[in-house]
Amino acid sequence: MRTLRTVSELRDHLRAERQAGRTIGLVPTMGAFHAGHVSLMERARAETDVVVVSLFVNPTQFAPTEDLAAYPRDEARDAAIAQETGVDVLFAPPVAQVYPDGFQTTVHVGALAESLEGAQRPGHFDGVATVVTKLLNMVGPDVAFFGQKDAQQALIVRRVVRDLDIPVRIEVCPTVREPDGLAMSSRNAYLAPPERERAVALRRALDAAEAAVAAGERDAAAVATAARGAMEPYGVEPEYLALVASDSLQPVEQIDGEILVALAARVGHARLIDNTLIKTNGRP
Ligand code: PAJ
Repeated sequence: MRTLRTVSELRDHLRAERQAGRTIGLVPTMGAFHAGHVSLMERARAETDVVVVSLFVNPTQFAPTEDLAAYPRDEARDAAIAQETGVDVLFAPPVAQVYPDGFQTTVHVGALAESLEGAQRPGHFDGVATVVTKLLNMVGPDVAFFGQKDAQQALIVRRVVRDLDIPVRIEVCPTVREPDGLAMSSRNAYLAPPERERAVALRRALDAAEAAVAAGERDAAAVATAARGAMEPYGVEPEYLALVASDSLQPVEQIDGEILVALAARVGHARLIDNTLIKTNGRP
């Protein structure tokens, strides 16, 4: 595996690969690798010839009040995991490579970026859309891989690629979970042991929503009430818990077709998110 730090080194290397007829896969990350990241790398390894993983803690997607300085960083550990997983190129640029002096152009996303996470974290998705667009332009991959764990992010990336005619296929991979159901996240590192136990509340809320729909409930407010109720024993309150259309992210009143149940909650010092897709075929 090669670790590259500049856009010109990256381009030179990938030009040769492309000329040799190899396809390129990109997995964008902010590091602190866990099994969720590894699953994306494995998928890329299986589907493309040259696997590029970017490792860049993107400052523009963090608000001044957020955890940019505290975000877990351990490049040596991440490089070892990437190498073991069969990654070909770790692209780990310094901030000045991505945002040189005078940088002033950004990608702004409309309505899709305004609900759920976007409502809680103003500007966050413009930061994500801008850096993902830049990474796609730097690497020029055939396929780029994202996690369903960040459902709104994945939807926004698909939208940006369509709206800006970026020639890449986007693949969204399933959420990888701990044995008790907690979604893997770099931010789980912030959880002290008692908080770690309470963090399962998010998955329990999704379980309750799935169970209510499976039992025939089609009223979104009733499903949301069941989901919130499942969090109470853990002393965890959602920041938001929403039932939305899985394509537009607009709230639904009745459950029909495919919906996304998405939630965020603070547990101790960590802000966690999770979601599940629920499909129905009309009334039971
Ligand atoms: P990061 O949080 O490091 O996540 C990198 C990728 O891993 C994202 O596509 C995310 O959805 C996926 N991922 C995270 N946890 C997962 C899990 N438990 N199961 C499956 N996939 C999981 O998301 C970002 O970085 C950044 O916003 C980025 C896209 C790199 C732009 O800066």
